Amino acid sequence: MSVALAHPNIALIKYWGNRDNDLRLPVNGSISINLDGLFTRTSVSFGNAKSDSLTINGSEVGGKGLARVSHILNLVREMAQMNEHAIVTSENNFPSGAGIASSASAFAALALAASNAAGLSLTQPELSRLARRGSGSASRSIPGGFVEWQMGKDETDSFAFSIADATHWDLRDCIAIVSASHKKTGSTEGHAIAGTSPLQLARVADAPRRLTLCRRAVLEKDFNALANIMEHDSDTMHAVMMTSSPALHYWQAASVTVMESVRAWRAQGMPVAYTVDAGPNVHVLCPFAVQKEAQARLQNLPGVENVLVAGVGGPARLVESISSR
Ligand code: DP6
Repeated sequence: MSVALAHPNIALIKYWGNRDNDLRLPVNGSISINLDGLFTRTSVSFGNAKSDSLTINGSEVGGKGLARVSHILNLVREMAQMNEHAIVTSENNFPSGAGIASSASAFAALALAASNAAGLSLTQPELSRLARRGSGSASRSIPGGFVEWQMGKDETDSFAFSIADATHWDLRDCIAIVSASHKKTGSTEGHAIAGTSPLQLARVADAPRRLTLCRRAVLEKDFNALANIMEHDSDTMHAVMMTSSPALHYWQAASVTVMESVRAWRAQGMPVAYTVDAGPNVHVLCPFAVQKEAQARLQNLPGVENVLVAGVGGPARLVESISSR
């Protein structure tokens, strides 16, 4: 049996849309940070069971959820040339209603635990590619710290790597939870219709510029430059979402209140910046020094139910490895 742990991540430069939905090859590169303190812990053991089984947070999962996991297990079985089925048990230490996508940490932990349990010793790029096949953003939860996922030219070079480790810059992500309910349209369906927005071509064409600016801001620890490019990137992604067919509106009134407040606080000199994924909750980044103040201010805004705080997290890692083969 192998047990692995991986953090979720939040993208500062995001991707929305794939050029190949089956292989999960994105239309542009992206940059993210892993979220320390939040994690998925997954154990995998191969044996003589009749089929794969999956338990998430104590409940047995079948249907599409299990099929998505078996897809990764099939790739592992193919690489290891074996055909045993697997028992997969997974737990998130963050509430599933917290509005934080668990697919990135889940598929990163699965890729590592399953490949290890099958006796494979994959490199970080190989693990990142494998995790990507389960959920695109999972490719970014394999390496640690500040991570870039290069879109690549083909399947083999679309993987993520660290551009700076977790200790490089002590940023905090204060996640303003405005709604804990599950999103109406998931990322997989969203990616498939991104191309229907007339704005998508422009957003994709401009991605190399945004990636360069973000990479530089991270490496130089230039918060203001990071703030400007990450908010712009998030806004353009939501513009694409809102103008696709069907239109996807993820922001709620409280999301807009948080974003407007963050912009106003920054104009007054406070280093804070927002980014929003495919849901209504707002991730507010800030340096460690202003975390308490940012958290307190966010908590007081109308519509904010709760504020979760995470630092910059390390790579996916094995926490236990007892070979069953
Ligand atoms: C808005 O990687 O979650 O968070 O491959 O279908 O699981 P699937 O999609 P996913 O999409 C992430 C979209 C995003 C932006 C980002 O994280 O880059």
